[in-house]
Amino acid sequence: MHTVQEILGKMSIEEKISLLVGAGFSKLVHGAAGETRPVARLGVPAVVLADGPAGVRVHPLRLGDAQRYYVTSFPNEIVLASTWNVELVERVGRAIGEEARALGVDVVLAPGLNIHRHPLCGRIFEYFSEDPLLSGVMGAAYVRGVQSAGVGATLKHFAGHEQETNRLLYNVAASERALREIYLRPFEIAVREAKPWAVMGAYNKLNGKYCVQNEWLLTRVLREEWGFEGLVMTDWGAGDNPVEMIKAGVDLIMPGSDQVVAELLKAYERGAIPGEVVDARARRVLELVAKSPRFRGQEGSGDLKLEEHAKVAYEAAVEGAVLLKNEGALPLPEKPRVALFGRGSYWTVKGGLGSGDSYPRYVVSIADGLRERGALVDEEIERVYRGMVHRFYEYGESLQLYRAYREGALAKSDSWLIEMLMTHFVDMMMEYTRVMHLQEDPFTDAFLEEAAQRNDAAVITVSRISTEGFDRFPVKGDYYLRDDELSLIERVSRVFHEHRKKVVVLLNVPGPVDVASWRDKVDAVLAIWLPGQEAGRAVADILLGRVSPSGKLPLTWPRDLYEIPAARTFPGTPPRDPEEVIYSEDIYVGYRYYDTFAVEPAYEFGYGLSYTAFDYRDLEVKLSGGEVVVRLKVRNSGRYPGKEVVQVYLRALESKFSRPFQELKGFRKTKLLAPGEEESVEVRVPLERLATFSGGKWVVEKGSYEVRVGASSRDIRLRAVLEIPAEACYDTSWRRVEC
Ligand code: BGC
Repeated sequence: MHTVQEILGKMSIEEKISLLVGAGFSKLVHGAAGETRPVARLGVPAVVLADGPAGVRVHPLRLGDAQRYYVTSFPNEIVLASTWNVELVERVGRAIGEEARALGVDVVLAPGLNIHRHPLCGRIFEYFSEDPLLSGVMGAAYVRGVQSAGVGATLKHFAGHEQETNRLLYNVAASERALREIYLRPFEIAVREAKPWAVMGAYNKLNGKYCVQNEWLLTRVLREEWGFEGLVMTDWGAGDNPVEMIKAGVDLIMPGSDQVVAELLKAYERGAIPGEVVDARARRVLELVAKSPRFRGQEGSGDLKLEEHAKVAYEAAVEGAVLLKNEGALPLPEKPRVALFGRGSYWTVKGGLGSGDSYPRYVVSIADGLRERGALVDEEIERVYRGMVHRFYEYGESLQLYRAYREGALAKSDSWLIEMLMTHFVDMMMEYTRVMHLQEDPFTDAFLEEAAQRNDAAVITVSRISTEGFDRFPVKGDYYLRDDELSLIERVSRVFHEHRKKVVVLLNVPGPVDVASWRDKVDAVLAIWLPGQEAGRAVADILLGRVSPSGKLPLTWPRDLYEIPAARTFPGTPPRDPEEVIYSEDIYVGYRYYDTFAVEPAYEFGYGLSYTAFDYRDLEVKLSGGEVVVRLKVRNSGRYPGKEVVQVYLRALESKFSRPFQELKGFRKTKLLAPGEEESVEVRVPLERLATFSGGKWVVEKGSYEVRVGASSRDIRLRAVLEIPAEACYDTSWRRVEC
């Protein structure tokens, strides 16, 4: 086998330039998002890139092939972050990497590391958290997992891609401090900790320049300051000038076309792209190819280990569910008779749509999960819902369209559009039309009365779907509940409470929805998010008390949409096709805002109830070898086995900067603790994590800090004061410098 240097030495300029431009949507693996161009005479294969983050996105059907290529649909990233379980997220990453590898996919286009700036971001489900540390640590774990299977991971969308409205064009205006402390930080953590094979430049502009044409972002920050050695690709169809992309630091333009190759070649010939730049970019592509399974002649084995991975998907769904409210309703009694309402109980939404979608063999609905675990699900209610759906979606429908296009029945001139539809949106629309518009409250009073008599409890699922390409809307039916949903909750609660029976609401949602207007009516609320294919099993085990919930919110759940920090500037100006999105809340994103400005959320960052209780004691905090070492003991003082997420926040008691009230600096999830069992927890916080970005450098201020340890950002159980004896400053590569 030749080395990258040898191969590069033998390449013509045409071959080198062809490497910098993708070959369009993948032909090797149907439904994969793209592939690179091969150079057959030198043994350089095409490598295949496919989406994540919730499972490998390939199409289950292939023309002329009877086999089905289903994958495991894992919980979406917002669920993974809600687990606060780093080791579990790494296992999810590994499973996705193994499936990619088995399918012949060389690079996974995940994880998404954008910040939950606004709960209506259409892809909020594809991102981890509003907090940069939690996002970065989870991102690094995911990358380590994927790459341990011998395929690459891709951090996306770099950077400032926090919304979908006008996503190809808007400009984000953000201060350097907000970028460094909040928006770039997750990428920086994942680059340093996990060495991803690739980073994907985002569609939007950042401070005036397209991210993919932004030399400051791609070359100065990513390569020079952070030392990133992998490949930089564009998002699919990002930017407006391929020559500028290559000059700014892009190695691979995706999905690519012959026209772009020709354009780059011309630019090279007239001297607009220097030969060394072409070489440097081609070398990065070759380095990625050289790491790929394809280059080593390892074709996909086809063995996806779906049984084994289903267990991982289940575990992540269980640990990612967040119990928001519980007034004596959960767990349900043994072998309960359950009145199960809401379309999402029968057609549970497994994940968000668009490129973050994936095609599993099955999705276990909440109804099926409950039944499988021994609950008696009311059949009359089920019959009413099932009777309302006349049309079932089949994967085959999008295949028919694809076949028509391949056979020339659809205009070839629209090929890019059709490929795009094929891989992203047809499936989405099918899903949408299926159940989202079902009337939720078709029941008469007499029907509900009888249902309350014959069942032990009511469970109502509220579902929402979300997708790439659109933000969610601040309207009834999206952020707010529809009138029929509210009336269902109101009527079911009234009738069941008359019979002294409890009412539980399950939120099967991509991100927060309004709860303030109805949560007082019900006894329990469990956010299950978009939990992947094992949805029903995970939910059933929590409802029936076989596991205690241990998820915690990775973002603040607002009380009112208009109280959130980005309310005035989302989705930008003008609101229809925004050109400018001004991050005017600056570093005050999520709890950094709510806590500093004393705004009451519905549920705070880090919040989540358990069936059991935990005592915290014996906090010790010391400075040792450049780290703040936090030690304490956590004991399960309740009646159920459970896991606790210990969160460590720091608050500067004096500061010359304007700083958030507190910031998350570390966390640890305990093992499963039996009642009475205790665990010694240690959290190590490198001193650098205390830094504020000011005057072009990182500053760790000297003085007193309060170390706040708790079960949520507002449930602080233990406190200690830490003295930092001297100021320390760092440059943007974290080298010590004069202050
Ligand atoms: C999305 C990316 C995705 C790519 C390839 C784009 O539209 O923004 O997240 O990886 O398509 O499917």
